[in-house]
Amino acid sequence: MARDETRIKIAIQKSGRLSEASLKLLDKSGLQFARSKDKLFWYGRNLPVDLLLVRDDDIPRLLLEGVCELGIVGQNVAAEKILEARRRRPDADLESLATLEFGHCRLMLAVPEDLDYQGPAQLAGQRIATSYPRLTRRWLHDHGVEADIVTLNGAVEIAPSLGTAEAIVDLVSTGTTLRANHLKAVAGVLDSQAALYRGSSVLPPERQALLDKLVQRILGVQRASETKYVMLHAPRDRLARITAILPGAETPTILPLEGQSERVAVHALCTEQVFWEHLEELKSAGASAILVLPVEKMLT
Ligand code: PRP
Ligand code: ZN
Repeated sequence: MARDETRIKIAIQKSGRLSEASLKLLDKSGLQFARSKDKLFWYGRNLPVDLLLVRDDDIPRLLLEGVCELGIVGQNVAAEKILEARRRRPDADLESLATLEFGHCRLMLAVPEDLDYQGPAQLAGQRIATSYPRLTRRWLHDHGVEADIVTLNGAVEIAPSLGTAEAIVDLVSTGTTLRANHLKAVAGVLDSQAALYRGSSVLPPERQALLDKLVQRILGVQRASETKYVMLHAPRDRLARITAILPGAETPTILPLEGQSERVAVHALCTEQVFWEHLEELKSAGASAILVLPVEKMLT
């Protein structure tokens, strides 16, 4: 692939738990690509922004080496690969621009179901299988335990039944994999979700401006997805109480209602999740005609 120095490249997971949501986020950010089913490279059609579809584990390296300017990857993978890169370059780092509220999972220590786990000290001298050797080593070190780390690239969960390790450190999302292998999670090593990362390359002003615009759009879509527009009618004398219930609303807009002096219309942007419980609380505080609308785009 010829290196085009005027375009921006974004790396996302080709197939896996983050792929679909990553593509959807970029699509909502107004990016269109000439999609090709098996190709790893999708050319940007409406902006000089291209997509690289790769294994999630490769994304941090592509960013650290300046092959891509932006990447969407799990915090777990990013953290592990940053620690790995620091062996060669102590200052290696990736800037996290935003957490993306998808791909939630937890890197956890798991042991056989029937083991009576008492705490980290029990791991001393044992073998722990994992695809995250550096995060595992750091966790063990933080707990003052010396254990052997067996690095595996896949099928970590079968190591205990094969007899190649006594415990594992692996990702847990639904917990299905652990249950299927008669393992139980006993400690959390790292909480993770998908995040948007910036590579370490320094860009000429024009490309930096394009990248800033792109990041603004992605952040705008991200914020909009968490934001709801709430409209309701409320007694004027209960406004303070009602405004306090609205999650993450700053200053709502108060509008008069034709022919009514006691009641007003309230419009508010809620930047936190609006649950049914909130609506029920609003209703008992005197609100009526409560509407919750999705927000598609935001530029503030
Ligand atoms: C992780 C992990 C487990 C599985 C756990 O793999 O290695 O196999 O997910 O998920 P569960 O709790 O829902 O069963 P992942 O799909 O991330 O693949 P990868 O590590 O090979 O990228
Ligand atoms: Zn992977």
